This record gives sequence, structure tokens and C-alpha cells, in this order.
Amino acid sequence: MKYVIGNWKSNQNLTESLIWIDGIHAIKPKFPENLSVILCLPFTNIAGFNHKLADLGIPIITGAQDVSHFAPGKHTGEITADMLGELVNYCIVGHSDRRRDFKETSEMVAEKARLLLEHAITPIICLDLPYLDEQIKELFQRNVDVSRCFFVYEPITAIGTGKPIEASDANHIANQISFLLDNAAPVLYGGSVTGDNVKSFVDQSRIDGVLVGTDSLEPTLFSEIISSLT
Ligand code: PGA
Repeated sequence: MKYVIGNWKSNQNLTESLIWIDGIHAIKPKFPENLSVILCLPFTNIAGFNHKLADLGIPIITGAQDVSHFAPGKHTGEITADMLGELVNYCIVGHSDRRRDFKETSEMVAEKARLLLEHAITPIICLDLPYLDEQIKELFQRNVDVSRCFFVYEPITAIGTGKPIEASDANHIANQISFLLDNAAPVLYGGSVTGDNVKSFVDQSRIDGVLVGTDSLEPTLFSEIISSLT
């Protein structure tokens, strides 16, 4: 199975997200059988988005972009894994945006992954070289079952810059990540993926899919990525 995962970050309100679905419905991209398409949305959009996807029979699976590292309790404003369990099957954790702007640590990310798995949500764990070893070690220390997680190699220089790294270099690092995980989990690449370059990444021997930020926001561009993999 290959994976295309969209990450909208802090973009699109509910109304805009429903219009996005109309766009996909009008384009009708062919969803290949061996491709799983996952879209990670702002919390506020997920329930309405799920309803509309189901009504129109569009085979996109939804995910969240973050979760609290606390269990339910007295933490004003936090969205827990327990809350997300009713809404999504996937959740991104440890994106470099969050490490940079919200001071997220490898310990917090590992705790988030642990809580997500308790609620049958697949953690999509983002990695870059400076903290790759530390993050994986932290997961093992907390007995997180890495075989139930997804991992994404996201070099910071490639995120949102329009400058992806070479697919063969991404494959090399994906191979290293895979080795540290005993080949137990899917490893994806993220950073300036487009319809033009997606196939070069997904065709690599150790890359199981892509995480797409900018080009997941436009139905036309996202459809091009899906269609490039048919
Ligand atoms: P980008 O973002 O596709 O805009 O580079 C990727 C990501 O941050 O997940």
C-alpha cells in the first residue's frame, strides 16, 4: 500500500473545507486501489468534513494534525486522543512547525503517540535528522509500538520552500529510519511534493508515500498528485 497524506496546517475554515470537497467531487480524480489518501485537517473541520465525504462517497480518510500530550482532565483548551478517537484514524505528531513554534520535545511527541495508540489512532510521526535518533529512542523508552505508527522524513529545508531534496537522498534516509525501526513501519517523505515530482519519491524502494502541505490546499493540485500515482 502507498500513502498520500495531506496536511492543511492552520488553513481553511469549515466553509472553505466543504468547498474543497466540492472541488474534488467535480474533478473526480481516479483513486488507485493500492493508494490510501489521508487528509489531516484543523480540529474544527473534521466532523463536518467527515459527513460530507460520506454523503458523496469520496474515499478520503481524515486525520488530525496534533493531539494533547495529556489524558482527559483539567487542561483548558486541549484536544485529547480520547476526543479524536470518535473522529479520525490518523494524527500527525511532532511536525517541525510545532517543534519550532510551540517548543515541542521528543518526550512530548512520544507521549502523544502513546496516547493516540491507546485510542486506535495511527500516529504519523515527523522526523528530521537533528532529532531522528533521539525521537525514535524516546518512542522505544515509552514502549510505543512503532509497528503501529507511520514515520515521515521531512527535511526542514524542503518544507514549504518549493525545493524538494533528491528522491534518492530521501530514500537513503528512509532506509536509515526503517533500519532503526526493524523495517516494522511505513516511512514517507515530505517537503515540496507536487504532482510533477510525487512519482519520483513514491517509486523509491524504501519510500511508502508522501506528506503534502501546500499542494493539498487546492483540489486541482491535490488531484494531480493522486492521479500521478495511477
Ligand atoms: P510542503 O509541506 O508540502 O508545503 O512543503 C510539507 C509539510 O510541512 O508537511
